[in-house]
Amino acid sequence: MIIPVFKGVDKAPNNTTVGLGRGASIAVKAAATSEGFSGKVGKSLSVWTKNCTVIFIGVGKKEILTHKIARDTGAKVLARLSKDLGSEIVVRFTSGWSPENMTAFAEGIMLRDYVFDKYQKNEDEEKHNGWKLECQAHERHLDYLTNSLKSASLVVTGVHLARDLANEPANRLYPEEFGRRALDWAEGKDNVEVEVWDYARLKKEGMEGVIAVGKGSIRKPCMVFFRLNPDQQKDQQVPCIVGKGITFDTGGISIKPTQGMWDMKYDMHGSATVFGLFQALWATGYEGRVNGITCMAENMPSAEAYRPGDVIDTYSGKTIEIFSTDAEGRNVLSDGLWKSAELNPSYIIDLATLTGACVVALGQEASGLWSNDDKLREKIHQAGNSVDELAWPMPLLPAFEKEMTSSKFADVRNGGKGRYGGANTAAAFLKQFIQDREDESGEKSAIPWAHLDIAGTAWNVDTNACVAHGGTGVHVRTLHHLITQG
Ligand code: BES
Ligand code: MN
Ligand code: ZN
Repeated sequence: MIIPVFKGVDKAPNNTTVGLGRGASIAVKAAATSEGFSGKVGKSLSVWTKNCTVIFIGVGKKEILTHKIARDTGAKVLARLSKDLGSEIVVRFTSGWSPENMTAFAEGIMLRDYVFDKYQKNEDEEKHNGWKLECQAHERHLDYLTNSLKSASLVVTGVHLARDLANEPANRLYPEEFGRRALDWAEGKDNVEVEVWDYARLKKEGMEGVIAVGKGSIRKPCMVFFRLNPDQQKDQQVPCIVGKGITFDTGGISIKPTQGMWDMKYDMHGSATVFGLFQALWATGYEGRVNGITCMAENMPSAEAYRPGDVIDTYSGKTIEIFSTDAEGRNVLSDGLWKSAELNPSYIIDLATLTGACVVALGQEASGLWSNDDKLREKIHQAGNSVDELAWPMPLLPAFEKEMTSSKFADVRNGGKGRYGGANTAAAFLKQFIQDREDESGEKSAIPWAHLDIAGTAWNVDTNACVAHGGTGVHVRTLHHLITQG
């Protein structure tokens, strides 16, 4: 039993010992108010009673409790919980807890309850059949909690799916395998559709951006289309979410040094987030229509690889001069973004582990956020804040666009003139592939679009309490919140 306790509470909260035997009650009451336990964030105290281990966990002062503190504390408790204690967790919320914070605490427990050990023999894990979680709170909160916890647990299935995909090594999860898993996922779900465009289809459609990047690998590239509720809102504009899906990024002919390469299996986290988001939306029963596109390729050096200096065609009709084959994400996205405009989107959001420069600029605490639309940028920023997945506004300046369209041989260049502002020039590149459209009055303007650079937030974020290591599933919750809460 986990009892979260506020700092500065000097007597045991009233319902602390309900259901415990007499001896146990006395021990627990004493422990709750002992000098040794202050209620400071993250500090805990365990009391062993017959059949039940009671764990007090500090969450700090009641007045300054945030959903982030609640979620992170829930996650930390789960991380420390020994599987020898059985399989049932009861969280007992005392007075002073808001329904939102209770939900966040439980969500932290659920998010952190994740391992990726499918390629390991682990007998201890095998014996444990997973935790069962029960939350206890004042009666007046129960209706709200029943719904919010159900919903949170379903969104978590999407986060965990995204994490699974990111953690899969590139020898097992290559472009067509991603497509196959998406098709498998759609099987038997009557309100989702998945379509995979294989190499031949990409050729036929002129998706030369994706092809250029992927043709150097024996694992051929593909494009995956996700459609939720395809028969709803047919004449309405709906969101389209686009993901970078480089299943491994060696850099290609512009090969990366050893140091920069080993974890590049997560270079498909943008596509993993899209897939996880569709799972989250589907599981929570979202009734609106949503489109997703993932651009899948493996970036390898070989006799058939594209090279620096190449001028490639793209689906848009624009040509790209390749400065570095390691700036491959933007090449595949150029096709995905151009295509997304054909789906009559209300807005387009792309997610990509796009640049090391973004990690230099922001570290691992926030994704970079660029947009051609102030309202959309603000909405994404707010959605990120609501779920504590920060998306930090970055500049989309005309000077960067000018730089990226200054090639002497093609319409667009895939690298900036120097290294400065590398995350911004990448965003400015992507903007070249956002189409204009006419509104009712015949006026032309760009489709609202935002770009999230998740290079820093998608992998091994030490400060992310909800993730031990590896893929983080970042922005599944942000986008679920954005789409479902408007
Ligand atoms: N996938 C990388 C970006 C990346 C770097 C993600 C580190 C996560 C951690 C991307 O394809 C890349 O190589 N970008 C280059 C761009 C440059 C060649 C213009 C980079 O950031 O160095
Ligand atoms: Mn690269
Ligand atoms: Zn990459």
